[in-house]
Amino acid sequence: MNAHSPCTCVVGLQWGDEAKGKIVDLIGDDYQFVVRYNGGPNAGHTVVWGDRTFKLSLLPTGVLKPTLRSVIGNGLVVYPPRLLEEIDQLEAGGIHVGDNLALSDHAHLIFPYHMEQERATEHGEDGSAIGTTGRGIGPCYQDKVGRSDGIRVGELLHPQHLGERLRTVVPRKNRIIHALANGNGKPCQFDPNELCDEYLRYAERLKPFITDTTSMLQKGLREGKRILFEGAQGSLLDIDFGTYPYVTSSNSLPGGIWNGSGVPSRHLGRIIGVVKAYTTRVGRGPFPSELDDGPTGIGERIRKIGREYGTVTGRPRRVGWFDSVAVRYTAALAGVDEITVMLLDVLSGLKELRICTGYEVDGKKTAHFPSDAFLLERCRPIYDTLPGWSADLTKARKKGDLPAEARRYVDRISELVDVPVSVVSVGPDREQTVMM
Ligand code: GDP
Ligand code: IMO
Ligand code: MG
Repeated sequence: MNAHSPCTCVVGLQWGDEAKGKIVDLIGDDYQFVVRYNGGPNAGHTVVWGDRTFKLSLLPTGVLKPTLRSVIGNGLVVYPPRLLEEIDQLEAGGIHVGDNLALSDHAHLIFPYHMEQERATEHGEDGSAIGTTGRGIGPCYQDKVGRSDGIRVGELLHPQHLGERLRTVVPRKNRIIHALANGNGKPCQFDPNELCDEYLRYAERLKPFITDTTSMLQKGLREGKRILFEGAQGSLLDIDFGTYPYVTSSNSLPGGIWNGSGVPSRHLGRIIGVVKAYTTRVGRGPFPSELDDGPTGIGERIRKIGREYGTVTGRPRRVGWFDSVAVRYTAALAGVDEITVMLLDVLSGLKELRICTGYEVDGKKTAHFPSDAFLLERCRPIYDTLPGWSADLTKARKKGDLPAEARRYVDRISELVDVPVSVVSVGPDREQTVMM
């Protein structure tokens, strides 16, 4: 950690939903900017203040605090109706979104044909589904990298140009969607002029937010301002280092910051890795420590108590024991200085707890994390067993309030991941936090 560097990153070290939103909200007051650098409306970050719960998808969590500038960086893919809906919901709840929000002109636009394209591949009968959030994330990033069909937010400001682009791109998309349907049902087809009119209506409302956010952030740094980067998804969903192909389409690890915001990584002074006290995963893909133990098992109990249902799609999250092999792998990749252990309260009442400390594969033991899905699929977990505790943790506010077994569990996580634990969370509310 370099205390003189002005930027901090909050990054999930598992498969997403580690409660990054709570940590960003908790420390946000120390910064002038909160920046999303990856992903799009696939994210669902929750912040709880007393009896108020906010769920943010495209907007950075900082938007709840009017003194912070919230930035949707160039690394994102943006679906304008969802963004406007989020802004309207906040406004209806008395949270003003105005000058405090900036949207990168280089971010890419999601169109309805991206979602249609995704539906065709996800719902095919060939078993190749990834279990995505269905928000068009993959097809939009494909178009970004493919170049010929990608359309950026800044293009919304040039009506004639946008119309020309859509009249080139949409017929191609219609042909692709038609081919993917392969005679099954009646594939959805799009009209470029109608889409253009629709997106120009969104543009009218989004215009005040659209800007060159990279120059804005670099100017901020020159003026001595501090930036908090809010990672979306988790490191095991990173396109390069996650459990490919069951990943998302962006770099959720801090490696995504430079490309997704234009802020060079040498400005990063502190990297906070967020983990749950257990593991969850939404969507398909290997999960060695999964608790697949039926409706009366521990997995279902954790799901119920932890309310483990997707923020974006409402899907039940798959649940399992804490996997220290996976988190040691991602903590090293992310270069974290500290970890925060979230949802520890959910484990109260279990007689014994397990932590995965290694895998057995083809009769051999290993502590190495093979991120390729087909290799990870063959790994069987090796567990450490620790005593549980029965006390309710939700009122704990300092280390001494935690039962000895809970402290021992957290210490063991820290030891196995080889990173100090700075925060333990014992409930969704910002008050339900223990500084270690
Ligand atoms: P994110 O995507 O990483 O921001 O996480 P999500 O918001 O998708 O999921 C985390 C969920 O856990 C949210 O519903 C939070 O309100 C909730 N939560 C956060 N911290 C705690 C905690 O310590 N205990 C419990 N029980 N719930 C928590
Ligand atoms: P936050 O920021 C949990 C998962 C999907 C799927 C895979 C690919 O709230 O932690 P995508 O729609 O991105 O193409 O889906 O990634 N996924 C998430 N899982 N939390 C998220 O975001 C996720 N964003 C995507 O379930 O397995
Ligand atoms: Mg989430």
